Amino acid sequence: MSQLHLPGLSPLPAEHVVNVASVKHRSPFRYPGGKTWLVPRVYRWLDSLPHRPEFFVEPFAGGAIIGLTVAAEHLADHVVLVEMDDQVAAVWETIINRGEGLRLAKQIEDFKLTAENVDRFLRRDNLTPQEYALQTIVRNRVNRGGILAEGAGKLKFGENGRGIRSRWYPATLRKRIIAIDAIRDRLSFIHGDGLEVMRQYIGNNDAVFFIDPPYTASEKKPGSRLYTHWQIDHAELFRLVGRLAGDFLMTYDNVPEVRALADQHGFDSEAVAMKTTHHAQLTELLIGHDLNWLR
Ligand SMILES: C[S@@+](CC[C@H](N)C(=O)[O-])C[C@H]1O[C@@H](n2cnc3c(N)ncnc32)[C@H](O)[C@@H]1O
Repeated sequence: MSQLHLPGLSPLPAEHVVNVASVKHRSPFRYPGGKTWLVPRVYRWLDSLPHRPEFFVEPFAGGAIIGLTVAAEHLADHVVLVEMDDQVAAVWETIINRGEGLRLAKQIEDFKLTAENVDRFLRRDNLTPQEYALQTIVRNRVNRGGILAEGAGKLKFGENGRGIRSRWYPATLRKRIIAIDAIRDRLSFIHGDGLEVMRQYIGNNDAVFFIDPPYTASEKKPGSRLYTHWQIDHAELFRLVGRLAGDFLMTYDNVPEVRALADQHGFDSEAVAMKTTHHAQLTELLIGHDLNWLR
């Protein structure tokens, strides 16, 4: 039985669409492909494990909603986040590795978000790491869909006609950053290659892995316009996952290429309902050794 003692977890059938408003948002990012909708299912996965894992490794962290939730709710002793993108890494390095989150939060609150200021600030280069983190947060909030990759457009008409300000909630961002700062000792951030870090934990049966790579295994490659780093050797990722001593949960788009890779490695998979930003109901594929906890 689980030792996590998560209160009252009822079954969550695959067709159930999670209401993301009921999930605590802990990330300062609005992240394309963000997994807020998966949080209730991650509780069930971790609750199904024989004990609290020592390490929770998230090799494709992005906005890191899952890893932050696991650390905040102490569902693993330690959470290791890995991300290759320089902009995203600047934020995590500032908050987690350098402990400068409170200063960043203050700078967010003080930033005067006008179209002119945004244009000027986003054009700046030669920034200090701290300034780069602030620039990333601003870019993430004013770009359509939170997309940080080159070529992403800025918001024009947002909620209530507030345009670029429609996703700018400085007081909320400040609270989230302060909350992350408070659990910093349970978090590590590595700016690098997630596959490399997975190899470092490969034989550790007290490490579990939440793996959410860019969705680029199919012809369509929906992830390729969302991230600067979208090229992944998916076959190698599956091979590596097959060699992990610890348990894992992987998410992908529900496409034949990915289902074939999962079958080839003898993994269990299940399509679950999620919501897109356009509120159309789509399914994503969850992959693991044994997903009976989901059913
Ligand atoms: C689907 S997103 C992760 C979203 C995240 N689960 C969330 O909820 O915000 C995939 C991420 O992997 C990152 N990435 C791509 N290749 C990588 C690599 N080799 N190592 C680490 N991160 C990588 C991308 O920059 C992107 O942020």
